[in-house]
Amino acid sequence: MKKFKRTTVTAALPYANGPLHIGHIAGAYLPADTYVRYLRLKGEDVVFVCGSDEHGVAITLGAKKEGVTPKQFVDKYHNLMKTAFGDFGISFDIYSRTSNSIHYETAQEFFRTIYDQGIFLEETSDQYYDEQERIFLADRYIIGTCPNCGHPAAYGDQCEKCGTSLSPRQLINPRSTVSGNTPVLKPTRHWYFPLDKFENWLREWVIEGHKEDWKVNVYGQCKSWIDQGLQPRSITRDLEWGVPVPLKNAEGKVLYVWFDAPIGYISATKELLPDTWQKYWKDPETRLIHFIGKDNIVFHCIIFPSILKAAGDYILPDNVPANEFLNLEGEKISTSRNHAVWLHEYLVDFPGRRDELRYVLASISPETKDSDFTWKDYQQKVNSELVAILGNFVNRVLVLTWKYFNGQVPSSHELPGTDARRKRILEIYNQAHNDLNFSVNEMIRALDEFRFREAQFQFMNLSRIGNKFLADTEPWKLAKEDMEAVGCILNYALTIVGNIAIACQPFLPDAAKSLKRQLASSSFESSWRKFWEKKALIDSIPEFHQLEKPELLYRNVEDDEIAKQIEKLKKPKLPVMEIQEQAQLKPLKPIISIDDFAKLDIRIGKVIQAEKMEKSNKLLKLTVDTGIDQRTVLSGIAQHYKPEEIIGKEVTLIANLAPRKMMGIESQGMILMAEEPDGKLRLIHPSEAVVPGSTVS
Ligand code: 2FM
Ligand code: ZN
Repeated sequence: MKKFKRTTVTAALPYANGPLHIGHIAGAYLPADTYVRYLRLKGEDVVFVCGSDEHGVAITLGAKKEGVTPKQFVDKYHNLMKTAFGDFGISFDIYSRTSNSIHYETAQEFFRTIYDQGIFLEETSDQYYDEQERIFLADRYIIGTCPNCGHPAAYGDQCEKCGTSLSPRQLINPRSTVSGNTPVLKPTRHWYFPLDKFENWLREWVIEGHKEDWKVNVYGQCKSWIDQGLQPRSITRDLEWGVPVPLKNAEGKVLYVWFDAPIGYISATKELLPDTWQKYWKDPETRLIHFIGKDNIVFHCIIFPSILKAAGDYILPDNVPANEFLNLEGEKISTSRNHAVWLHEYLVDFPGRRDELRYVLASISPETKDSDFTWKDYQQKVNSELVAILGNFVNRVLVLTWKYFNGQVPSSHELPGTDARRKRILEIYNQAHNDLNFSVNEMIRALDEFRFREAQFQFMNLSRIGNKFLADTEPWKLAKEDMEAVGCILNYALTIVGNIAIACQPFLPDAAKSLKRQLASSSFESSWRKFWEKKALIDSIPEFHQLEKPELLYRNVEDDEIAKQIEKLKKPKLPVMEIQEQAQLKPLKPIISIDDFAKLDIRIGKVIQAEKMEKSNKLLKLTVDTGIDQRTVLSGIAQHYKPEEIIGKEVTLIANLAPRKMMGIESQGMILMAEEPDGKLRLIHPSEAVVPGSTVS
């Protein structure tokens, strides 16, 4: 294996359009974090970058639905995700974002560098356009009837029923999923990256170069893409939100999100290390690893490497350990159905239980196929593994050391004598030592090969071996007759605890912290590096070293805690966006300040006259007594109320709205009304009679 000087680790930039859930964590962030912690323990030079992916149509439409600007939209989710990652303890060196100016510059520079070499193709073609929303529609936002199987809701890029790849123009009766309208074809000019020209190189680099070291699922997907033949891909879009195409005459054109997002890894490194970032991206002695989910494989293994190659002197990914998907209680995790365990909610519902989630997710890590998270399994794994195996072993050893030796590490001298019992203890000790060596070796090998599930299993074996060692030697039975033997047994048991304290660091950082405290290990931690560098167990904790008082690492998860979570999934509370959609309510408008609100003069008035406006079937002409004056107000309620129905009624009025002329008559205010989703208008009255002119606030 080639020797590298340093490693650049990236974890997929999550879209800033919703909170993080356990599927995200299991897919990319937990394996990446575990790996990086391992590299750091080995003393390697590593940089770990991530950030929010803040462009793309999904962001634009999400913002529209929430009634906010794209910037307000991504600010909200970027902050939510950044906080959740931080609270969960994912140890990024930087969590950046693609709306940063440094990212705009970097992505534009990439485009220019490739453009200046004449690599891009420029082409005008007809694309579907939603006239109501005034956007060109990405393939996923067009549905229609599949020409192959007749499925009425096939997407513009694929029919999910029969699996046929489609282009939007093949759809029969296409419709925009944004407005529901029939889109029109409109010519538009774009730049294309000629992926076909990189096919031979990709064949050599991926198919021949990475057959042995890339995961089967990753390699297989790449091979099938390349074997199908590659086409030029458009790398620009007509959108208002995104990185502008850095060319003259390219107004309204932005870089395609999948062109700019992976460049975000580089921008984030630049932001973190303005003077030295190049060595993490351009030095061939740097190893680049991308942690992603399986839906991102083609972008990281085929498209981004081709872009890096075209841009010149960048390194290429050495490995892309992509995971499959995590399901929840036997069903796909779904943001829109709220079928998810949200990270920020987990952290509130299970305070102080970060390790538990890490442990369970790593133990079901979807490394080779999709896997399933269930709350019952979570409870079972915490209670019967973390509590009963790891926590129990460590605690027993520390409690016994306090009981018999007042918390001081007993002497490690050779077991004296030759009687049968001592011989047996020696045999047990030798067996435990061999087993520990084996597990540590297997654990490190698995970490090197991105097999985190196996690595964590081998780590847990250290506690299994420890428990067996105690059960076989039974020091509590020897305490009355042979304290020297008890000392030897506990000395070795403490050595196992020491090795566990070291080995747990990539997997269970909170336990690692607690164990360091309990072992008061700061004075001898310097010897721990060799554990990682040389796969060598530490052979003892210094004799007579004073330990701290023991504390429990884990406690059982109770049935009612689990029942609550299961209940929560049964009654999906829809996210705001979905509630709006289901009830067909209008999206919320952007937040305003109290000062904005205070500018409105809202009053209760009484309608003293009402008549239909000539030539208008919408407007009624009202005379309203505001307590201060009697004024004319035109109101668009003619289809909902007859004039005689509202004479004498109290109404709510914006009294300081600038007068407006309609059909030759000046309206001096606006009557407030409730508009139901079907468009029906209802006047708003006070619940009890009030004096005209009363203010509303
Ligand atoms: O699938 C996703 O969530 C994308 N936002 C991942 C982007 S990874 C990288 F390219 F930035
Ligand atoms: Zn079909």
